[in-house]
Amino acid sequence: MNRQSLIIDCDPGVDDAVALMLAFGAGEFELLAVTAVGGNVPVEKTARNARMLRQIAGREDVPVFAGAERPLRREPAGAGEFHGAEGLGDLAPFEPDAPCADGHAVDAIIDLVMARPERSVALAVMGPMTNLALALREAPELAARLGPVAVMGGARSEGGNITASAEFNIWADPEAAAEVLASGCEVVLFGLDATHQVRATEERIALLEAIGTAKAATAASMMRFSQRIEREIVGWPSLPEWGPPVHDPCPVAWLLKPALFELAPCHVRVETESELTRGHTAVEFREAVAGSLPHRWATAADADGVFALIAAAVGTTGTN
Ligand code: BDR
Ligand code: CA
Repeated sequence: MNRQSLIIDCDPGVDDAVALMLAFGAGEFELLAVTAVGGNVPVEKTARNARMLRQIAGREDVPVFAGAERPLRREPAGAGEFHGAEGLGDLAPFEPDAPCADGHAVDAIIDLVMARPERSVALAVMGPMTNLALALREAPELAARLGPVAVMGGARSEGGNITASAEFNIWADPEAAAEVLASGCEVVLFGLDATHQVRATEERIALLEAIGTAKAATAASMMRFSQRIEREIVGWPSLPEWGPPVHDPCPVAWLLKPALFELAPCHVRVETESELTRGHTAVEFREAVAGSLPHRWATAADADGVFALIAAAVGTTGTN
């Protein structure tokens, strides 16, 4: 099989954890590295969490690099109320056997991408875009070298989840998102319009719990935590199809099976000046304006298809 080379940049984070379990278990990827960024919790914790998850999945062959501690210009934010103080919900923290790889995440991204054929390495970004923005500052030639940059981030029709206008990842480091989007990279954004269609219903969580592998149990425990927390914080309509949104697996699922999502070409810009609408993603679909930039925006997702991929990936044991 011709495997897709992939770097995952993340801030685990309960939904990042599900995305990692999906990627660790999917044989379609050549996973070059996991890079951690400060976001949901500080980078010491996101890097440790990535190593914990790697160990649970039996994927110590994948290096984990620690990256940016803080956004380009803003104070670090944090979303511990949605992820737990340590970032992984009810999963008790432990010190993983294997350490972080030597070197900074930003250098790792540059070195790994520049060493491989043009456009052959995809990047899935599921935290604030600080690491990628710093990499592009250091090596602007990266933009033409990278394959698709699949991002969890942005809010349009659904409104925001951290403010009325903005989604957390973009809001946390709006300058980084703006720089990445202006860099010329091919960026595919999975914002709340799409990820709110991918929900961990009771039935879907129960199916994962029944699988019986460590990866499945870990993914299910993240969703159970979100189920409880979302009920407490944002309330809970009594509908069977309701459940917490499972944001971060979406870009990984798209890389595995593009047909699961509907995408529209567009031009995305990020609000960095206003405090009221900080991090808002202005998504322009009108062709005269949208034509020039290589952005796409996910408008629809096949949730059953995404969960089928997760179930298949976490159903395997050991290394792929
Ligand atoms: C995004 O924000 C984070 O809290 C989640 O991990 C996800 O990446 C959703 O807005
Ligand atoms: Ca995340």
